[in-house]
Amino acid sequence: MKNRLMPFASIAILGIVLMVVVSYWGLNNADKMLAAQEGKGQATEQAAPAADDPEGLVKASCVSCHGQNLEGGVGPELATVGSRLSAEQIANVINNGQNTMPAGMVDPAKAEVIAAWLAEHK
Ligand code: HEC
Repeated sequence: MKNRLMPFASIAILGIVLMVVVSYWGLNNADKMLAAQEGKGQATEQAAPAADDPEGLVKASCVSCHGQNLEGGVGPELATVGSRLSAEQIANVINNGQNTMPAGMVDPAKAEVIAAWLAEHK
C-alpha cells in the first residue's frame, strides 16, 4: 500500500517545490518589471522638454515638419530663420499659425522661449 502511494507522494512534493520556486521566480520578475516600468517613467519624463529648454521644445513640437536639423520638410527651413524674422514675428507664427502651419502647437510662454532661440539662428 505504502509503496503504491509513493509515486503520488513524490509527484505531490515535486509539485509543491515547483510552486514555491515559480512563486519566487515570479516575485523576482515582478520586481524587475516594476523597475523597468520606473525606468520607462523616467524616460518619458526626460522626453517631455522643460519650458525653458527651447531646443527640446522644438524637437518635440516642430521638427516633424521643419526637419530634425531645422533643414526644412513640410515647413520651410528654420536653421536661418533669424535672418528673415524677428523673435516677435516668429512668436506670432507659432501662436497664430501661418497658412498650413497650425496655430497653438505650444502654449504662448513656450512660444516666446522658442522664438527667442530661433531668432538667434541666422
Ligand atoms: C504641421 C506641420 C508644422 C509644424 C508641426 C510646425 N510648423 Fe512651422 N510651418 C509649417 C509650414 C507649412 C510653414 C509655412 C507656412 C506658410 O506657407 O507660410 C511653417 C512656417 C513656420 C515659420 C515661418 C518661417 C518663414 O520663413 O516664414 C516659423 C518661424 C515656424 N513655422 C516655426 C515653427 C515652430 C517654432 C514650430 C514648433 C512650435 C513649428 N513651426 C511647427 C508647418 C509646421
